[in-house]
Amino acid sequence: MSKKRKIIIAGNWKMNKSIHEAEELTKGIKQLLGETSEVDVVVCPTFTALKSVGDIITNTNIKLGAQNMHWEAEGAYTGEISSSMLRDLYCHYVILGHSERRTYFGETDEVVNKKVKAAIAGNLIPIVCVGESLEQRESDQTKAIIKDQIEKSLAGLGEDLKKVIIAYEPIWAIGTGLTASPEQAQDVHAYIRGILEEMGGTDVAQAIRIQYGGSMKPTNADELLSQPDIDGGLIGGAALDANSFAGIVNAGIEK
Ligand code: PGA
Repeated sequence: MSKKRKIIIAGNWKMNKSIHEAEELTKGIKQLLGETSEVDVVVCPTFTALKSVGDIITNTNIKLGAQNMHWEAEGAYTGEISSSMLRDLYCHYVILGHSERRTYFGETDEVVNKKVKAAIAGNLIPIVCVGESLEQRESDQTKAIIKDQIEKSLAGLGEDLKKVIIAYEPIWAIGTGLTASPEQAQDVHAYIRGILEEMGGTDVAQAIRIQYGGSMKPTNADELLSQPDIDGGLIGGAALDANSFAGIVNAGIEK
């Protein structure tokens, strides 16, 4: 039985790969996945590699995403990039509110909310990240934290709520090799869908895709993606190798 929602697997390359290395990785991914249509495949390189990677995946089913953007359209914001600049490079997606941005660059839910609105207004699909720390999980605050992040990051979207993708990424599982068990992840995903239902109604909540992120790899992707409310993955470390990224995408086929 296949899921109601199409699986989406996105590679978050973070601050890795020179342009040349990004091109090599993209060629490998293209060879393995260029024709794949059963799963939505997205690659999110650094800003500096967007153009080169975008050129390689033109006319394939692989789509381009960025890892961050500013909420203003243009102006005196040294070092920043706007949604229209990303569209200029044929980006379709943008990752927003990643826990690394929240932790190291002080992004709050209010900032993420401004970015989400700007992304949608600029015709980009935002992948909005939420997740709890180990301390928060151990003190039983996971659901309260997630509810707060979802409600604030996605506040005031109205009809546009259905345009977002959410990535649930427990911070303790990111880059640590520790993965949430399929049951732990499913539990939070179902909880997120319940919040979305309160915010936008049943149809919207059923349509929104919720990715899992945090040490997803070919060996655990199958079990995670089999969960009823897990609709994809946001992949860090395992996305830096074409074979392991393809392994995860292939696990998503037929789900
Ligand atoms: P990871 O990263 O797969 O290396 O844990 C996921 C992410 O941070 O998006």
